[in-house]
Amino acid sequence: MKIAIIGQGFVGKSLAKSAVENANVVVGFDLKSMQPFLLDEKNYLQTTNPEDLSDAEVIVIAVPTPLNSERKPDLSAIRIACETIIENVKKRVLVINESTSYPGTLRNEIAAVIEGASGLGHMYAASPERVDPGNENWTQKNTPRLLAGLTSEATALALKFYSTFCDQIIEVSTPEVAEAAKLFENTFRQVNIALVNEFAQISNALDIPTREVLEAAATKPFGFMSFQPGPGVGGHCIPVDPSYLAYVAENVGVPAEFIKRANQVNLGMPAYVVSRVAKDVGSLKGKKVLVVGVAYKTNVSDTREAPAALVIDELKKQNAEVSWHDSVVGTWNGQTSSELEGFDIAIVVTKHDADSESSIKASAPYVFDCTGSIKGVAGL
Ligand SMILES: NC(=O)c1ccc[n+]([C@@H]2O[C@H](COP(=O)([O-])OP(=O)(O)OC[C@H]3O[C@@H](n4cnc5c(N)ncnc54)[C@H](O)[C@@H]3O)[C@@H](O)[C@H]2O)c1
Repeated sequence: MKIAIIGQGFVGKSLAKSAVENANVVVGFDLKSMQPFLLDEKNYLQTTNPEDLSDAEVIVIAVPTPLNSERKPDLSAIRIACETIIENVKKRVLVINESTSYPGTLRNEIAAVIEGASGLGHMYAASPERVDPGNENWTQKNTPRLLAGLTSEATALALKFYSTFCDQIIEVSTPEVAEAAKLFENTFRQVNIALVNEFAQISNALDIPTREVLEAAATKPFGFMSFQPGPGVGGHCIPVDPSYLAYVAENVGVPAEFIKRANQVNLGMPAYVVSRVAKDVGSLKGKKVLVVGVAYKTNVSDTREAPAALVIDELKKQNAEVSWHDSVVGTWNGQTSSELEGFDIAIVVTKHDADSESSIKASAPYVFDCTGSIKGVAGL
C-alpha cells in the first residue's frame, strides 16, 4: 500500500520501518530535515516537502502531543498536520491518527477540521501507538494494536494496512474507545508508580526494607502486579498522557483526583530522594554530587521529562556542586557526561547496562540508588 507518515520521530520512524519491511511504499514527512535512517530508496522517501503526500492511499499522523505551560493538552502539531493534509491531499484517502490524545480527537479535532476545509469525504481511523522504547520483547509486530474507524469502510482499510505487519489487531467499537484505552493504560502505570513511591516513603519511615516487601507481595499469584519505586516518571507518555485524561474529565465535570495526586507524588520524588541523601550525609552545601543516568529509562538516550533534571534542581537548591554522568546520553543541555570518579556523593537515577555496578560504587564513598539495581548501598 502507498503510505505517508506525518512525523518521523520515534513512532513515525518505527512505523515506517515496519511498513517498508512488509511490502508497503512509504513517504516519511517531517517538518525537520534529519539524517536518513532507512536506506531503501525504492520503497521509502524521507522528505520535508508536503507535496510528496499527494499520492498516498493512507496517511498516518504520528506527531508530538505534549502539554503546554499550564500542563494542558497541546494539539498544535496535530492541527498543523491537518493543515498539511488539507493543502496537499486532493483525493480521498484513509487518515489514521497514532498520536496519543484524548477521546474525541479523531472525530472532532481531525476529521471535522479536515472535512470542514476539504470536503473530500476521507476515511478516518484511530490506532494509538503503544510501542515501548528499548523493549525488545514487545515490538510493533507482536504488541496487540487497538483500532477503530469512524466508518466500517475506514476500519476495514486500516485493518488491511496494519495486518501487513501486526500479528494482532483488536477492533474496538469507536475511535473514542481506542483513544481512551491508550490514556487509561498509561494512567494505570502512573497511578501505580505513585502508589509504590508513596509506599517506599512509608516503609522507609517504618524502617522496613521496601524492595523486600515488594518482592514478598509479588509472590501472590493473583490480584497483584509489581511496580518499582523510583525518582519520578519520565519520557513523554507516563508524565503527560494522564493529564490528557484529567483534562477531558474536568471538561465534563469529573474531578480527576487520582491522576492529580499521582502527579504530585511522582513529581515530589526528586525532593524526597535529595532529603534522604541529606538525612544520611548531612548538609549538601559544597558537596561534589554526581547524578548517574539522566535518560528517563535504562538503555535509552531519551531525556524528555527525565526526573534527573528535577533531582539536579533540588541538589542545586541545597548548594551542592552537581555533575552528571550518562554513558548513553553523552551530551545533554550543551554539557558532556562526567567521568565516574572523584565525587563525594553519587545518586543513581537511571542505570544503563554500559555502567558496571563496581564503577558506580567507585565514583563516590556514598552512593544512593533509586533503581534497586546496586547492592549494598543506600537507596529507595
Ligand atoms: N515515543 C513513544 O514511546 C511513544 C509511544 C506511544 C505513543 N507515542 C505518541 O506518539 C506520538 C509521537 O511521538 P514520538 O515519540 O514519535 O515523538 P517525537 O518527538 O519523537 O517525533 C515527532 C516528530 O514529528 C515531527 N513533527 C511535529 N509536528 C509535525 C507536523 N505538523 N508535521 C510533520 N512533522 C511534525 C517532529 O519534527 C518530530 O520529528 C505522540 O503523540 C506520543 O505521545 C509515543
